[in-house]
Amino acid sequence: MSEVLRVSHVSKDYGTGRRAHRVLSDVSLEVARGEVLGVVGESGSGKSTLGRIIAGFLPPTEGTVEHLAGGPRSVQMIVQESAGALNPRLPVWRSMAEVSAVNRRLSRRLREPSMEYVRYVGLSEADADRRPTQLSGGQRQRVSIARALAAGPKVLVCDEAVSSLDVSVRATVLNLLNRVRADLGIAIIFISHDIAVVSHLADRVLVLSHGTVMEHGPTDRVLHRPESDYTRALISATPSLERRLMHSAEGA
Ligand SMILES: Nc1ncnc2c1ncn2[C@@H]1O[C@H](COP(=O)(O)OP(=O)(O)OP(=O)(O)O)[C@@H](O)[C@H]1O
Ligand SMILES: [Mg+2]
Repeated sequence: MSEVLRVSHVSKDYGTGRRAHRVLSDVSLEVARGEVLGVVGESGSGKSTLGRIIAGFLPPTEGTVEHLAGGPRSVQMIVQESAGALNPRLPVWRSMAEVSAVNRRLSRRLREPSMEYVRYVGLSEADADRRPTQLSGGQRQRVSIARALAAGPKVLVCDEAVSSLDVSVRATVLNLLNRVRADLGIAIIFISHDIAVVSHLADRVLVLSHGTVMEHGPTDRVLHRPESDYTRALISATPSLERRLMHSAEGA
């Protein structure tokens, strides 16, 4: 397997000295090209901290993050309200072009290349000419994904990227992310508090509790034969997933 990202023994403290507060302890993981790693855990378990460290926005206190297929700039991050980073006064295609061009005249010439990504994520040229507030939440999240893709990443970190979307829009964005990994071979770190959502996309799941890896394995194994009580509790706290698992067990 061609690994694109390796996280080795990462720990993170917020604050220093006697105020230091450890929120991640000895987290290690690897992700291969086109692979989706789900990261789940309750609120405050350290998911976003891990995502930001992987994306290079935060330094780890201990351990290393290696980008094996290009430098730290080969990672893009999508968050719940990623579109907040788009310039509210510009048509969204222009914010996309600016990922690859700081110069305005140059960005004008990047309209056509930007449209390629606009179409890829299922938006129209007319959508791309709108300002962020003139788009729906789902469309804005597609713009954020198109913008991230325009930067040519090897790894996409999605932190609660579909959490604010309603169920049907969520499904289409999950399908889009699935195409991104299959067509483009981009690896995805998919972070969510909702293990049911993660299970739709992830090849493997890493379960965090209080900054510690409780469990890490293939999605099917983690769901059907969880090794930790913590994972079992996460599954039982998600009735829709429990029903699905019971159903598939009966069918087997
Ligand atoms: N900038 C910061 N300074 C100090 N402590 C922080 C900071 N950011 C997060 N924390 C703390 O670190 C811990 C982990 O937070 P983090 O945001 O990584 O959790 P999370 O799993 O993403 O939670 P959620 O599901 O609510 O998004 C929490 O206890 C949080 O209060
Ligand atoms: Mg978070």
